[in-house]
Amino acid sequence: MNKELAPVITDLENQINDIQTDIAAIEHNTLLFEERNFDKRTDTLDFIDFHILDRIEGVLPQTDQQNLLLSLKNRAEQLRTKLEAVDAGLFQKIQDNIRSGAYTSESFKSMVREFVHFDSTNNEYQGEVGYDNLDVFLNGIFSFKNVPEQTLQREPGMVFYQKTPARIIFEMLDKVDFTNEDVFFDLGSGLGFVIMLVNLLSGVKTIGVEFEPAFCNYAINSIASLNLSNIKVINVDAREADYSSGNIFFMYTPFDSHIIHDVLDLLKKEALSREIKIITYGPCSINVALQSWLKSTSPNENINKLMIFNSL
Ligand SMILES: C[S@@+](CC[C@H](N)C(=O)[O-])C[C@H]1O[C@@H](n2cnc3c(N)ncnc32)[C@H](O)[C@@H]1O
Repeated sequence: MNKELAPVITDLENQINDIQTDIAAIEHNTLLFEERNFDKRTDTLDFIDFHILDRIEGVLPQTDQQNLLLSLKNRAEQLRTKLEAVDAGLFQKIQDNIRSGAYTSESFKSMVREFVHFDSTNNEYQGEVGYDNLDVFLNGIFSFKNVPEQTLQREPGMVFYQKTPARIIFEMLDKVDFTNEDVFFDLGSGLGFVIMLVNLLSGVKTIGVEFEPAFCNYAINSIASLNLSNIKVINVDAREADYSSGNIFFMYTPFDSHIIHDVLDLLKKEALSREIKIITYGPCSINVALQSWLKSTSPNENINKLMIFNSL
């Protein structure tokens, strides 16, 4: 054997051994197949995709042990299917409970925290960007999969659909005391994630305003399929919506420039008759922070943090 090649071959063999060991460890870890271990299962599903299957794809062209690697690939895929089936059963049960009205806001919150471990009061966690296991869990409950095609052309200044990270909504619920009289609006409500989650976590009436009809239909179907009440979706441009029933207005940067100014003018008029809150996340916080009729509860605006503003 060519001596220079020897270390390469050894390295490949090591990689194959590692892959075998990782697969066997997951196969023998019965805890992963128990419903309650959602967090660990989600991390394991990521591990299968990004550390096992990816490694197999990388090693396959470099080795003559194709049959062994294909059988490892098959075992890894079977594991993925089994783990996903546990999640599917879990989501089905939770959906049935929601449909039958089995949860109060408190018990829904505790149920989520039982399956996903996070600290919504932790400053560092609040400032993280992107999505995490909490989003995977709620996407499963709300059956969020593919975003429907837009049917209307977005005007300049309108932002494309992107879901608020769920930890931001939990942080909002920790920081704002919702009462039964509150009416919560999500401006640019997309597929209805925020209005459904806030309704389930607080019990308040929620209203979504969304200009794209395909997104509104999707949200309306999701709300109906979970038998949720006290949630409304209005298919209208946020510049033309009637905000007279609301007192808490949430925006995950649905638009910028001239549109946000027009919408803030409408909300300013509403604030003449009652106190309102505007809660923001993302770059739109900067525009909102410039409004002299609003006072922020935090010292500095930060686009990676939830911002809460009260009308003066
Ligand atoms: C960043 S996404 C936020 C989605 C939603 N709030 C959530 O977190 O799941 C912005 C949404 O605003 C909608 N939008 C953009 N401009 C709008 C407008 N002028 N009026 C109503 N909705 C608008 C977009 O179609 C998109 O669904």
